[in-house]
Amino acid sequence: MFAKSHLALALVLGCAGPAFAHSGLAAKKYLNLPLGAIKPSGWLLDQLNVQMSGLWGHEHEFYHYVSQTDWLGGDSYYSNLEEAGSYWFNAMVPAAVLVDSAEVQSQTQYFLDFVLDNQDETGWLGPEVFNSSKPRFLWARYPYLFGAMQLVEYNNTLADRVIPAVYKFVTLANSMMKNGAGLEDWTRTRWEDFVIALQWLYDFYLNGNEDLLIETMQLLKWTGDPWEDVFATENFPTTAVENLRNPFPVLTWHGVNMAEGLKALPSTYRFTHNQSDLDRASEGWDALFQYHGRPSGIFAADEYLAGLGAIRGTELCLVVETMFSGSYLFQVSGDLKYADRVERITYNALPATLTGDMWSRQYLQEQNQIAAQNMDPNPFPNDGPYSNVFGLEPNYPCCTVNHGQGFPKFVTNSFVKTNDDASLVQVYLGPVAVHTVLAGDNTVSVDVDTLYPFSDAVNVVVSATKEFTYLVRIPSWVSGATVSVNGGATNGIQADNSGLAAIDLPAGNSTLSLNLPSEITIENRPNNSVAIHRGPLNYAFDIPRNQTVLAQNANESRAVDLQFEVTAPWQYAIDPTTLKFNAGTPQGGQLPSPIFDSGLPPLSIDATGCLIEWAVAGDTFASDPPQNPSCIGNTTTIKLIPLGATKLRISEFPVFDSANV
Ligand SMILES: *[C@@H]1O[C@H](CO)[C@@H](O)[C@H](O)[C@H]1NC(C)=O
Ligand SMILES: *[C@@H]1O[C@H](CO)[C@@H](O)[C@H](O)[C@H]1NC(C)=O
Ligand SMILES: *[C@@H]1O[C@H](CO)[C@@H](O)[C@H](O)[C@H]1NC(C)=O
Ligand SMILES: *[C@@H]1O[C@H](CO)[C@@H](O)[C@H](O)[C@H]1NC(C)=O
Ligand SMILES: *[C@@H]1O[C@H](CO)[C@@H](O)[C@H](O)[C@H]1NC(C)=O
Ligand SMILES: *[C@@H]1O[C@H](CO)[C@@H](O)[C@H](O)[C@H]1NC(C)=O
Ligand SMILES: *[C@@H]1O[C@H](CO)[C@@H](O)[C@H](O)[C@H]1NC(C)=O
Ligand SMILES: *[C@@H]1O[C@H](CO)[C@@H](O)[C@H](O)[C@H]1NC(C)=O
Repeated sequence: MFAKSHLALALVLGCAGPAFAHSGLAAKKYLNLPLGAIKPSGWLLDQLNVQMSGLWGHEHEFYHYVSQTDWLGGDSYYSNLEEAGSYWFNAMVPAAVLVDSAEVQSQTQYFLDFVLDNQDETGWLGPEVFNSSKPRFLWARYPYLFGAMQLVEYNNTLADRVIPAVYKFVTLANSMMKNGAGLEDWTRTRWEDFVIALQWLYDFYLNGNEDLLIETMQLLKWTGDPWEDVFATENFPTTAVENLRNPFPVLTWHGVNMAEGLKALPSTYRFTHNQSDLDRASEGWDALFQYHGRPSGIFAADEYLAGLGAIRGTELCLVVETMFSGSYLFQVSGDLKYADRVERITYNALPATLTGDMWSRQYLQEQNQIAAQNMDPNPFPNDGPYSNVFGLEPNYPCCTVNHGQGFPKFVTNSFVKTNDDASLVQVYLGPVAVHTVLAGDNTVSVDVDTLYPFSDAVNVVVSATKEFTYLVRIPSWVSGATVSVNGGATNGIQADNSGLAAIDLPAGNSTLSLNLPSEITIENRPNNSVAIHRGPLNYAFDIPRNQTVLAQNANESRAVDLQFEVTAPWQYAIDPTTLKFNAGTPQGGQLPSPIFDSGLPPLSIDATGCLIEWAVAGDTFASDPPQNPSCIGNTTTIKLIPLGATKLRISEFPVFDSANV
């Protein structure tokens, strides 16, 4: 690995010669709107408020890894800029803006300033690591750069202070890498985050630094892990990896690194202009979900890639990182398969692994999860027994300080512009409001009023000073989409090959009433089992549970570790020919707050089920779904609800034929 990267590096620098040659950056297909241009509304605003009233919005007040006292004096790997503060800052910048919290915005401003004020004369973004025997590693600065970029987009006047400081850091990093410094195994896997920050500088604050930026991107890529090989189909692991040998650096098959690494090839494409980089990214994405995917939209890795078994774990950090990477992949490539999946992850896997009030989170979630408790034995070869408890910092603290980016970045990526600046694209369906200025001084406001994904109806009010083309993603699972413009006739919507529908709108106000219905679909899962979907939502049997408080933080009584145990039978097989969708009627047209907990979403699917013999494994987790099971009781109707609202669940079901019992 060392030999290989040094050789490659020599080649890059050798080719460069005295006058560094390159051909600039390829444009992204779609462009982000600056932080602040898109705000959540309706139930998504409520969800953001739940997040800010929960662990996320309070941890900086009491949690040692991100409290101010620790920035000033911590000495742990997780403290301040060595990981925790940097992760927190990246996620809190958008969260604080989206809920308009002046109090929390003053905290992110404080963190921005604190780091800049502690930049040393070499350019290192400080404070210096407190354990001075530890070498300087670059990675943990990258989430800080993401946070700073978002703040500058929100408030351009900060650029005068931030951009020169970041350039000083880039110059230092460039020379560190040329001297073989700044890199360790984690930094080598996560180089793409820095590349993306450099590309943001290139796009918005180039200031004559083209050579420095492109050369630094190349240094990062060629000293980093070879994602183009990791994601090639012929190298991609098709089973859980604990008994396989990784031909590449071992951390590439680590779930969070892979979730972040999904951005490596699209960001590489921008400076190589090599279409194969995008093709590899697409191929790798497909293989990842084919061999490790979950009906909740995400993939499984309980540290390392975990295959298809329904009781293997998915780490919360990889959930939020995959969402962010999927948004980026869509923006660079224009392929809506990334957007479809991000929407599914957001509405299923993310809420499933948090309590409804967002005060407790898991480290690992399971698709079939019959307990959340200390597990001995546990089904996760590389994680501890406490991994699926809902709590403050089960197994590792990283997700406590990183999970907060999930919902905010979903919102900030929910609309983009075409790269000619002329059109707006509604990418994720959910209630948000947008205000921006398009090409030709076209001032546009959009209000999306919807309960989606808890309803098929999406009402959009657009007001624009000039006529323009409005684009909206029609998800791949929708059949029979219709639109009525300004209350006129309801017409079928045709999406183009990419999945976008184009609607030409005049200057002034327009209303679009979209209806996006879909059929129930049945996904075949391992062991002859099935998973049930309708629209973006995966449906699960919500196992009745009771709760035991395992621990309570001494300084914040709401930060609790919770054990959930089942209080009713869960061993159901279903007959997939009997499924019936109930749209429900939200009370007063509103969803309850919070929405993601038992009994709260209005939607459900009825299924004919029966109890079967289905053993537990190791007392606390289910064995594989039994194949061709026999009913041991009468058939009955069981209700399946959106998986995000279940905390204990069965969602990969054995099947039986109710006509033959
Ligand atoms: C400082 O870092 C070094 C290298 O990572 C490590 O071996 C040592 O235990 C650390 N010391 C303290 C006090 O954390
Ligand atoms: C933007 O940043 C400037 C400089 O730090 C500050 O004075 C101003 O209050 C900020 N504006 C907003 C809207 O946050
Ligand atoms: C383009 O990328 C592919 C895979 O990422 C790589 O194998 C190939 O060598 C690259 N081509 C060039 C001209 O760099
Ligand atoms: C069930 O499926 C999993 C995942 O493919 C597989 O590892 C396991 O061996 C299967 N179990 C049985 C009993 O076939
Ligand atoms: C257009 O809609 C905006 C709100 O989005 C409203 O303030 C304005 O009055 C409307 N204009 C017309 C002509 O209806
Ligand atoms: C509670 O806060 C005190 C004072 O800041 C601190 O010393 C202590 O470590 C904290 N305890 C916990 C469990 O966080
Ligand atoms: C929860 O239910 C289990 C039985 O399923 C029981 O053993 C346990 O005592 C209950 N715990 C509480 C707190 O009610
Ligand atoms: C099964 O259904 C039959 C007929 O409705 C009923 O008599 C019997 O009590 C039921 N058995 C159970 C275990 O519910």
